[in-house]
Amino acid sequence: MNFEFTEEQVMIQQAARDYAQRELIKDVIERDDNAIFPTEHVKALAELGFLGMLVSPEYDGGGMDTVSYVLAMEEISKVDASASVIMSVNNSLVCYGIEAYANEEQKQKYLKPLARGEKIGAFLLSEPEAGSDATSQRTTAEDKGDYYLLNGTKNWITNANSAGTYLVIAQTHPEKKHRGINCLIVDRHAEGVSLGPHENKMGMRSSDTHSVMFTDVKVPKADRIGEDGFGFKFAMKTLDGGRIGIASQALGIASGAFERSVQYAKERKAFGTEIINHQVIAFKLADMAVKIENARNLCLKAAWLKDQGKPYGLMSAMAKQYAADIAMEVTTEAVQIHGGYGYVKEYHVERLMREAKLTQIYEGTSEIQKIVISRSLLND
Ligand code: CAA
Repeated sequence: MNFEFTEEQVMIQQAARDYAQRELIKDVIERDDNAIFPTEHVKALAELGFLGMLVSPEYDGGGMDTVSYVLAMEEISKVDASASVIMSVNNSLVCYGIEAYANEEQKQKYLKPLARGEKIGAFLLSEPEAGSDATSQRTTAEDKGDYYLLNGTKNWITNANSAGTYLVIAQTHPEKKHRGINCLIVDRHAEGVSLGPHENKMGMRSSDTHSVMFTDVKVPKADRIGEDGFGFKFAMKTLDGGRIGIASQALGIASGAFERSVQYAKERKAFGTEIINHQVIAFKLADMAVKIENARNLCLKAAWLKDQGKPYGLMSAMAKQYAADIAMEVTTEAVQIHGGYGYVKEYHVERLMREAKLTQIYEGTSEIQKIVISRSLLND
């Protein structure tokens, strides 16, 4: 077993770290306070090749492996999880979904601009009454011969306003239940597409999240991904990889809070010494370090399995559940270690704690991951 990273993986990790620590950090508090979309940073991440890092060079992507993706996601998320969720949705839901399951014409037309980061993508599965229960899709894609007529509402859509390309999951044959669902590629600016207001979120406030409404939107049949009725399986398979991205995001949020806590504990004095010398603080840091290392290993194992072409759905669910849950624990402890300073914005850890909460909710709650994990035990 080889736990060493390759030279290329280390270079990618370093490039992500440099950008995050030098540039992303500068106005992150202001962006979060005012819910400002990080337009310039998204451009810079595209130039670094991070928006299409998993896409093969044949389709203008970076051709990097999933292990590198985990390393880059951790570094970006240490500083700004709003930026990293934009990167994650584009890479592992939208680009991956198209590269793995779309036809050649669709890849030429839609994947290349997404991989170059000229456009970004959004993944539209959740609905007002279909969040965890994803088979209960109410959005309809009525078969009208050479096109689908799309009607319905999607909720909590990351990149809803900034995206150019949507992957929309919708029901075509309700009598077939989840086997009647399709995935359609839809232009964000198509006639009949409208957005609800920007969601005023607790964390990741500068990523743009909206509801999206479809009213008689005509989508050519040529823009359906896969066979008729493949949409639900498409969503589940794509989410298996998406969860590696969000697990790595949770890992980065936790390790960002941890690094800040160690630094603070080495500087802050109380009762005549730096607080790291008090066992009550040192043991908290030790517990945080173990949890982070475990989460990192789960993320890297899921990524490695994917890179080897082996089944990875179970490991990505484990990584997502564990990393999200420990991110919440670690960031809460980070605020505690910082005391009053942890509760004000300048020290960043309160923001990281707010960001951690979302990783337990989106791309499948922690409870959904436990369903996936426990079902795999039953089926063994
Ligand atoms: N790969 C391939 N197929 C899969 C699969 C997978 N990982 N998981 C399920 N399926 C298939 C099953 O084999 C089954 O197919 P057949 O009936 O044809 O055999 C079908 O899908 C239905 O599966 P289940 O019976 O297991 O379905 P279920 O209703 O019990 O639900 C679930 C399963 C895991 C709970 C699923 O609904 C789920 O993952 N829910 C959470 C949805 C989610 O993650 N939403 C995130 C939204 S995206 C987002 O958050 C992006 C963002 O903004 C950041």
